[in-house]
Parts: sequence; structure tokens; C-alpha cells
Amino acid sequence: MDKLRITGGRPLEGEIRISGAKNAALPILCAALLTAKPLTLTNVPALRDVSTMAKLLGEMGLSVKRSPERTVLHAPSIEDPTASYDLVKTMRASVLVLGPLLARCGRAKVSLPGGCAIGARPVDQHVTGLEAMGATIAIEHGYMHATAERLRGARIVMDLVTVTGTENLMMAAALAEGETLIENAAREPEVVDLARCLTAMGAKIQGAGSPVIRITGVRTLGGAEHRVVPDRIETGTYLAAAAATGGKVRLTGAVPDALDATLDKLREAGATVATTGDSIELQMSGRPTAVSLRTAPYPGFATDMQAQFMALATVAHGTAVITETIFENRFMHALEMQRLGADIRLEGNTAIVNGVARLQGARVMATDLRASAGLVIAGLVAEGETVVDRVYQLDRGYEALENKLSALGARVERVRSGLL
Ligand code: UD1
Repeated sequence: MDKLRITGGRPLEGEIRISGAKNAALPILCAALLTAKPLTLTNVPALRDVSTMAKLLGEMGLSVKRSPERTVLHAPSIEDPTASYDLVKTMRASVLVLGPLLARCGRAKVSLPGGCAIGARPVDQHVTGLEAMGATIAIEHGYMHATAERLRGARIVMDLVTVTGTENLMMAAALAEGETLIENAAREPEVVDLARCLTAMGAKIQGAGSPVIRITGVRTLGGAEHRVVPDRIETGTYLAAAAATGGKVRLTGAVPDALDATLDKLREAGATVATTGDSIELQMSGRPTAVSLRTAPYPGFATDMQAQFMALATVAHGTAVITETIFENRFMHALEMQRLGADIRLEGNTAIVNGVARLQGARVMATDLRASAGLVIAGLVAEGETVVDRVYQLDRGYEALENKLSALGARVERVRSGLL
């Protein structure tokens, strides 16, 4: 397995361009299942998760043509509405095919995702929402077997805020008969981007970005062209890296408005942050100040930024209390950061991080995508060499990571498996 070798201690300085958002691209790729006409997407990031989704859709008979500029998906018919365990187990977002398949084909067979490095992550909200719309879903041999004549609109009050749950139901409702109301819906910008794409395809959706989404079903959806929004988590990751290393960066092609909670925390940590419509500049002099935070659904502080801010806290002045409220077991990176010399105490879903003056490079291993990002930031700060194992986790969600970090002056190289 490839590794990333980082020689730390240099501030990040320079300018890079932000890629399209993974978490917007994944549901939008699935939206192609809803129409017999071609869906053309731009700004789709070149990521492992995107390739996995393309493969999954390809297995169902979709044609997926990718070039660096555009991705064209076309599903005149769907041969086999099945998402196999082999692919679903590698990427939980595969469950996003369930709603569209059911709406288009009247049936779907989708593997249950099973365990996950960051906690249980059930899909009960997806299932009960679709059942409220008239679907019958049986669990047999690890698969959800879903059937429905034509889904019908329903009022669905989600028990908790779920991003992919909201997206699945929104896609299903787009082709259902009558009106669907999703209450306690996720408000993430990626939900809004999916709604924009569906609307361009002819769907009737109001309220995306608010807790109540109203969808009036239509008989068929058409083709469309859509540009995927920039990745706010990638943006936040580079900002946190620049802040932790005492650097100065300019990120272009970003959406500062989607990053309010992150930018507030970076300012609280002592960074100077300036934004324009689509760029963000950050400068940090000296050590950051410790900032406490609590993850929450959007517009709260993103759980996908928690590990990166823990890295920032490890070298801050003072003590940060970091509380994770979205996922259980999302502190695996803390134990690895301790190997770099961080002073972190875990108490249930809270991490108490006492900042230290310096970290020391070591070999570390990551269990999930954002944990890996946190370790990369810690490695950029640490003295000497840090080797982050399992780079495939980073490849799932960071386009051209080494190139972008190198462009900012970091000393980073990918070591092919077997060479270390
Ligand atoms: C999405 C993001 C992921 C991010 C997460 C939270 C994508 C592809 N992934 O994941 O990067 O970390 O949102 O912002 O967009 N839950 C249930 N039952 C359900 C569904 C969820 O109990 O049916 C729980 C989960 O276990 C978790 C919480 O709800 O505790 C939020 O999860 P959810 O928003 O669904 O995460 P994902 O959509 O999987």
C-alpha cells in the first residue's frame, strides 16, 4: 500500500485551486439513474470514490464517459438495479443508488454497508423514508431488496439529520407521484447542489438548504448540464494546514460562504482570513491559540473537519476541548497523533488536547479519509519525517494531494508500496 512521506516544519505558502466537492459529486452521479437522457457534469474531482461510484453505476448498465473536463453519464435503460457488497463495503455512499433505482425501475437490490471505521452508520432513515413513500424493503442475506409500483409523495419527518438520507429521499421523491415533504432535512451545501442539478433535469424542488424540502414529483426527468460545487472540506483542510504550519495561502475556486463555521474557528485560532466571492486568503503568524469546538450538522462545525482541527490544536497555545457529536468512534487519529508527541486525552466523545510546542515525526496509520488528512497536517508541523500509511484513504477524497501540497512548498512524496 502506498505511503506518504512528509518532511515537516515548513510553513505552507502559495496559491492553489480547489477541486469539485466529493460529497456533491457522489449523489449527483447517482442522479443520472433517474433519467434516460445524458447528464453532463463538470468540475467532477478525480478521486477514488468517484471512480468507485462510476464503476458501481457501470455495473448497472450506465455508460460513464470521463475526460478531465467533463463526465457524461447516460442510462437509456438500467440492466441490473443491484449494488453489490464488494463495492458498497468500500464506499458507504453507494447507498445513494437506492432511492433513484427504486424511483426509476420500481426495484433495487442494494447491499447493507455494514461496519465502518468511524462507527455504526446505519441506514434506517433511508429505509423508513422510502417505506413511507410506498416501498417495501426486505433485508435478506445482507441485502436490501426494495420494490415499489410507483413511489408516492409523503410527509417524512427524519429522526435525525442525515445528509445522504436526505439526498436519497429527495431523488426518489423527484419521480414520485404527488408531493413529498422532508422535514428535519440536512442543510449541507451538497444537498443544495444536488437539488440544483435535479432542478436542471426538470425536478420540482423547493426549500433545499432549509430544514424543510418540498418536492413535487414529475413523470420523467430529462438531461442537463451541471457544474459541481467546490469542495468545502478540501478548502478547510488546506486552510487548517496553513494555520497549523504558520503559513500564508490563497485558495481559489472556493465558496467562502459555505465555510462560515470553519473560518470563524480559524480566526479564533489567531489566523487572519480574507475572502472574496470565490477565494480565501489565510495568514497565520506564530503558534495558533487553542480553539474548542463541537461538531454539528451544517451550518455547525463539520465533523469532516474535526481531525484537521485536532491537528491544529496539538500545537496550539492552551487547551482545546473537541466534542464529536455526529459519529461515534471518530477519534482514531488521536491515538496516532499521540505517536507524534501530541498530548490528547479521550473521554467518551470528547478529546482534551493540550497544545505542545512541537511534534516529532513518526510512522502513523489512518483509519479513514479525514483522519488521514489530520495526520498529514500533523506531519507537516512535526519535526523530521512522518510517514502516513494507507494513502488510498486520502485518494478517496483529496484530488492531487501531493501536487497541491508541493505547490504550497511542502516536502511531500508518495512512496509506492514495498519501497519503504
Ligand atoms: C455524509 C458525508 C460524510 C459526513 C457526514 C456527516 C457524503 C457522501 N458523506 O455522510 O462525509 O461525514 O455526512 O456530515 O455526503 N444515521 C442514522 N441513520 C441513518 C442515517 C444516518 O442513524 O439512516 C446517523 C449516522 O450514524 C450519523 C448521523 O446520522 O451518526 C449523520 O450521518 P449522515 O449525515 O447520514 O452521514 P452520511 O450521509 O453517511
